[in-house]
Amino acid sequence: MRARIAPSILSFDPADYRAPVLELQKAGVDWIHLDVMDGQFVPPITFGAELASSLSTLGEAPLEAHLMTLTPERHFEAFVKAGCRRITFHQEATVHSHRLVQALREMGVEAGIAINPATPVSTVLPMLDILDLVLVMTVNPGWGGQSLIESCIPKVRELRAIAPELDIEVDGGVTPGTLPRLLEAGATTFVTGSYLAGAASIASGVQELRKACLCAS
Ligand code: DX5
Ligand code: ZN
Repeated sequence: MRARIAPSILSFDPADYRAPVLELQKAGVDWIHLDVMDGQFVPPITFGAELASSLSTLGEAPLEAHLMTLTPERHFEAFVKAGCRRITFHQEATVHSHRLVQALREMGVEAGIAINPATPVSTVLPMLDILDLVLVMTVNPGWGGQSLIESCIPKVRELRAIAPELDIEVDGGVTPGTLPRLLEAGATTFVTGSYLAGAASIASGVQELRKACLCAS
């Protein structure tokens, strides 16, 4: 599976997400990653489906909503209606993750589940037959600009060994410097926020990430 770049908009200026999303689309990224935080599952509050709706028509790359929220099922319909092609919720946010994955698929969108650094890979194994993606968090959720948690890399390797065809997304502390080790461990989709927000230009940052995708260490 080709390595995919899914930039997070979290580290850009919340007063104007439109401009960077237009540039990301122009740079040919694969997904636009929306970090939705409810102030409960994680301390910060970010944005809702209205923002997704306003960003959904800016280019080819589809939107994916990363729901860092309690009771994620309460938000499914709004983000589907807003035009998100994939919705990823947290294993730790519900006791009915299997049923919620089924519900997302019945709504016609891709279903992803995210696991925090302390959550074992084993918790998602019973759902591999109905999941489109597993998001292995490589930082503790809630903030951009954190350093990659090294102990999460073996989780990617463990999941890849069990599910050779699965789309495994990594999220947090991904830069051209860390990406090759994540790629080598078996990750296929790379979320990166602060690296791109701090790059000389979005186009050059995406180029560096694409180059890093070619060189598993
Ligand atoms: C953190 C979010 C990540 C974050 C990535 O809770 O899920 O998507 O924005 O940001 P960086 O790439 O700066 O670690
Ligand atoms: Zn995220």
